[in-house]
Amino acid sequence: MDATITFTVNGRQRTVTVDPQRPLLDVLREELQLTGTKYGCGEGRCGACTVLLDGKRVRSCITPAASAAGKEVLTIEGLAPQKPQAGAEGGSLHPVQAAFLAEGAFQCGYCTPGMIMSTVALLRETPHPTDEQILSALNGNLCRCNDYPRILKAVHRAAGAGG
Ligand code: FES
Ligand code: FES
Repeated sequence: MDATITFTVNGRQRTVTVDPQRPLLDVLREELQLTGTKYGCGEGRCGACTVLLDGKRVRSCITPAASAAGKEVLTIEGLAPQKPQAGAEGGSLHPVQAAFLAEGAFQCGYCTPGMIMSTVALLRETPHPTDEQILSALNGNLCRCNDYPRILKAVHRAAGAGG
């Protein structure tokens, strides 16, 4: 039976009426049209669907919608300020997004939102991580394009920029 669930997504309170066991990923993408979070494996193995729930990274494909009730969800869409800077085209980027762009740390880009959200969570807890800490923190995020060396550089660059 459907339930009404209220939670905050990217700073905005949202209410949905859905099966409480439905994956949070589905609710974000299909009910709230937040399609930046990607469906990869659907079983908690690839990290493409990573979002932050009360600041902790979760795999939204295996997180029931009910577990977001009353909590704050941050998705890739919520990272960057949406307003364009004066004289700039488009919106400005979050330091982690900017670092991934500067290092060219993606090819197809499918893993990138999840990688970035995991990196944001890592840098909040460990502002200047070692290689080992980065590899450990991103261990659950897979890149089928095998872009790991540039991803590692991007995380260091973001750390240097206060990401
Ligand atoms: S889609 Fe969620 S971990 Fe792969
Ligand atoms: S850039 Fe293609 S999956 Fe990572």
